[in-house]
Amino acid sequence: MSGLILAIETSCDETAAAVVDDALAVRSSVVASQIDLHAAFGGVVPELASRAHVEMITTIVDQALTEAGIAGADLSAIAVTSGPGLVGALLVGIATAKSLALGWGLPIVSVNHLEGHLASVFLADGDVPFPQTALLVSGGHTAIYRVDAPRADVIAELGATRDDAAGEAFDKVAKLLGLGYPGGPVVDRLAAKGDASRVKLSPPMDTRGSFEMSFSGIKTQVARLVAQTPEPRTEGWAADVCASFQAAVTGVLARKVIEAATREHVEDVVLGGGVAANAELRRRVRALGEAKGLRVLVPPLTSCTDNAAMIAYAGAVRLSEGARDGWDLVATSRTALERKTRKGRGSR
Ligand code: KG4
Ligand code: ZN
Repeated sequence: MSGLILAIETSCDETAAAVVDDALAVRSSVVASQIDLHAAFGGVVPELASRAHVEMITTIVDQALTEAGIAGADLSAIAVTSGPGLVGALLVGIATAKSLALGWGLPIVSVNHLEGHLASVFLADGDVPFPQTALLVSGGHTAIYRVDAPRADVIAELGATRDDAAGEAFDKVAKLLGLGYPGGPVVDRLAAKGDASRVKLSPPMDTRGSFEMSFSGIKTQVARLVAQTPEPRTEGWAADVCASFQAAVTGVLARKVIEAATREHVEDVVLGGGVAANAELRRRVRALGEAKGLRVLVPPLTSCTDNAAMIAYAGAVRLSEGARDGWDLVATSRTALERKTRKGRGSR
């Protein structure tokens, strides 16, 4: 499949559209964040997310086409995130993609959101070789994969969180400390001013030789700490808690992904997902990887959090393999990659 591809991403709280060209270069990438809308509630409110997508989607698609300097008639296909995600939010993107595809006579291809995150590293460097060991770490997912090609059927999960995603823990800790939503960026900033050694937290599930993870226990540790610390709790204290929490979480993530790459004899390590924007995680994975002679590739900050350029890239790969979806395309929270990651562990 050649030509220009429009991608639409509405799985959570970002309304995004992007255009990539034949050479898989990003011609435009527009992201409208709903953060302000959800901040007052301390998390994403699904119904508000869906409604905001409905309000924004036409403008955002229009902007992506304008910035790419093209019209709908110049496109050769439309890619859209079909899951996992909030079902009402996904449906807005899917309905829009179907309507545009019907109106402009274009093929449509669905993209797994997680495959999108795994493809984000190619937005900066199209030449990352396979196989790769990937750490996908976001608000909804945390897992380590061996990626032999950018296709769900050859992506093998080496380990994953048994409970919360790491991003969820960042968000919860920020909420406990009264720092607002989303928690990741603010914990990241505050941690840089803190001293991790002043607050003792045990690293979560720090066992060697296993790539399973857990982040609910450290949330509870922080909740207890907050409950036991009398007011006034200073910003300096909060900074120390953030530094200790961030060191514990990023330490485990970095060690596990590098250990996985070493065990798999895979030289290329890639990061993806919103938490991959974390400065300490990026630094630690790079440092540990370099010490082992591995190549560590980290997407640019804006490609880590949800965006449509990564969906366009993954969609272009699927299209080039002949994948197409019909009008029966529906939103699904359990797509191939996710089903595979859940195999053998029961539902969560
Ligand atoms: O990939 P993403 O935009 O959405 C999901 O697919 O979940 O990830 C959002 C998550 C949130 O939990 C947010 O707090 C976290 O990524 N995040 C960060 C940072 N920036 C975003 N976590 C730690 N440090 C950051 N700098
Ligand atoms: Zn995401």
